[in-house]
Amino acid sequence: MKIEFVAGDAPADKSAALAVIAFEKSPLAGAAAALNKSTGGTLSRAVAQARFSGGIGQTLDILAPHGVTAARAIIVGAGPAATFDGQAMELAAAHAYQAVKASGVHTLVLRLPSVTAEIAARAAFGIRLAAYRFDRYRTTEKADKKPSVTKVLVAVDDPKAAAKSFKAAAGLADAIIYARDLVSEPANILYPEEFARRVKTLTSLGLEVEILGEKEMKKLGMGALLGVGQGSVRETQLAIIQWKGAKDAAAQPVAFVGKGVCFDSGGISIKGADGMEEMITDMGGAAAVSGLMYALAKRKAKVNAVGILGLVENMPDGAAQRPGDVVTTMSGQTVEVINTDAEGRLVLADALWYCQKRFKPKFMIDLATLTGAIIISLGKDLAGMFSNNDALAENLLAASKASGDILWRMPLPPQYERNIDSAVADMKNVGPRYGGSITAALFIQRFVNGLPWAHLDIASTAWKPGSTVPTIPSGATGFGVRLLDRLVADCYEG
Ligand code: BES
Ligand code: MN
Ligand code: ZN
Repeated sequence: MKIEFVAGDAPADKSAALAVIAFEKSPLAGAAAALNKSTGGTLSRAVAQARFSGGIGQTLDILAPHGVTAARAIIVGAGPAATFDGQAMELAAAHAYQAVKASGVHTLVLRLPSVTAEIAARAAFGIRLAAYRFDRYRTTEKADKKPSVTKVLVAVDDPKAAAKSFKAAAGLADAIIYARDLVSEPANILYPEEFARRVKTLTSLGLEVEILGEKEMKKLGMGALLGVGQGSVRETQLAIIQWKGAKDAAAQPVAFVGKGVCFDSGGISIKGADGMEEMITDMGGAAAVSGLMYALAKRKAKVNAVGILGLVENMPDGAAQRPGDVVTTMSGQTVEVINTDAEGRLVLADALWYCQKRFKPKFMIDLATLTGAIIISLGKDLAGMFSNNDALAENLLAASKASGDILWRMPLPPQYERNIDSAVADMKNVGPRYGGSITAALFIQRFVNGLPWAHLDIASTAWKPGSTVPTIPSGATGFGVRLLDRLVADCYEG
């Protein structure tokens, strides 16, 4: 889809939708008033007939409006004028797109007189995210089922300035879409080596990428990560991505670690058939970290950052790891594998240990589709955040608020440590069913070696069957990319 900025009141044509924003309580001011005038008062009559008050999420769609050349005139609510900001603009623009995307119109003209370049860019950004669709494998879809809108014109006072501002923001949109594509890909296409290959292509953005195979990991003693991949015909990989953007080349980096289970069958502790296909998304953490590194490189962030991905497939097989096996992690701590389906924490144990040992980062944040229990705890809109460091947790919560990727802090109660005591090893990999996300986090904490750390359990938010936000269509959300880009920009650059 093409998004362009054009001047003033760009003309629509007879297959275009002409959209204007409206503020709560005074829905027919500004561009809406002008459009109302040219339609001979159609808009004010329509507003009077509908429950339209200008709230965010409301749209009023007038077909074949009299007096203007356009297939549709759309009024989209932007909330109260007093609190109108980039976020409101982003949502309003995304709602406008959603309202017409499959209506048959080819062009959406969004008239935004007298908004700043930044606000105009946010409108384009919202539309870009709203228009995401993973359709790589649809070959027979009829044209009339596909989205009809192929072009968006954002009409502003200063199109040059808006385009410049959007250029800076578009990298982040690309990064979110990059992460969404990775999550959407099926596991027969995106297995660990293929994931590693795709990440390797990010060197074109100026990132440094190293890939470790099983031989190297064996030498490093990564018995936990390798155990998970033991039953798969696909080779386990560890990807290390570096962005060196800090003025001081030796500045301590910030580090992000992603769970990249390309398919989670459960292994010998196999999952039920119902919904197992969703486990192609079990690399959502690794996708988010890749997307973040992409975003940092695109905007040449002034920071040193490391991204580490544990890429593996969890399969049942004659060679697979068994319940009751004891594995030795890179840290030297041993783990009794009670349930082979609790594999994410085994992946993270070695990836986090490797990360802190090699890079001595300021902090580590891991992202993982780790537990079904976090969905039970928080539902599908919030991700769980666990941290051993209040300052880092506060920074994350602030970035969460600013970015719209919502986090909720969860506890790490020491009295639950006993839940993972093992009779034969230093610990076991699962505790009781109750508080399952907490036990998982306590397990992971044992591998951060005291460093400031946060664990984001994104099993709830990485994949959404139904959309609740217009910028996040159903399916892969790209959760975490905006959040962490914001965290780095606000707290760790310069
Ligand atoms: N990948 C799953 C968690 C998951 C569940 C992600 C639903 C997305 C949606 C994870 O590896 C897993 O299987 N966790 C088990 C842990 C249990 C065996 C302790 C779970 O949540 O049931
Ligand atoms: Mn599992
Ligand atoms: Zn898993």
